[in-house]
Amino acid sequence: MPQLAAEQEIDFKSEEYKDAYSRINAIVIEGEQEAHENYIRLAQLLPEHQDALIRLSKMESRHKKGFEACGRNLEVLPDLEFAQKFFAGLHQNFQTAAVEGKVVTCLLIQSLIIECFAIAAYNIYIPVADDFARKITEGVVKDEYSHLNFGEVWLKEHFEESKAELEEANRQNLPIVWKMLNEVADDAQTLAMEKDALVEDFMIQYGEALSNIGFTTRDIMRLSAYGLTAA
Ligand SMILES: [Fe+2]
Ligand SMILES: [Fe+2]
Repeated sequence: MPQLAAEQEIDFKSEEYKDAYSRINAIVIEGEQEAHENYIRLAQLLPEHQDALIRLSKMESRHKKGFEACGRNLEVLPDLEFAQKFFAGLHQNFQTAAVEGKVVTCLLIQSLIIECFAIAAYNIYIPVADDFARKITEGVVKDEYSHLNFGEVWLKEHFEESKAELEEANRQNLPIVWKMLNEVADDAQTLAMEKDALVEDFMIQYGEALSNIGFTTRDIMRLSAYGLTAA
């Protein structure tokens, strides 16, 4: 029963918890680093939004520092090598799209997928986090909603000409998200974060984002669950 997990006394100092945290904390740190770099790249691709995007990139860098402090607080060394491999699929697809000047694909990967993934993970983590990490994560998640909003607004304004590329980018990248959620499920469970809750929260955030951009309910059902059954 998921609600019991949150009420259980979690031993943040146990070896089991710290071992799982070394990977989860690294994923979060690497995710914030990816986001930082991706917004700098997006600022080059969208020079008319350069100031806003550089501001977002700096926020991501602050988030990274916050989560590094969370690891230090629990005396955990983040397994960054693991985390880089974890993000390799989305990282590669973003780089390829950026080289090809595919702004829509870059925005889908960073502003929708990575932001929604972060929001879902942070929402599920907050109730079961240690006090120090909870305060940090609560501050961060508020920022992530504003980042998601940047992508939504841009894609909404360019909806008609972006639609086909969004469909293709979704097809290419959403199955990677389900794979990532599977890879992290056991460690997340050790932190009292349920995989089903993560999937559900991600789909809610992502579905709302697609709706704000202009997709119909029918489109959203199809897009937001793409590749889920294969996961
Ligand atoms: Fe962030
Ligand atoms: Fe963000």
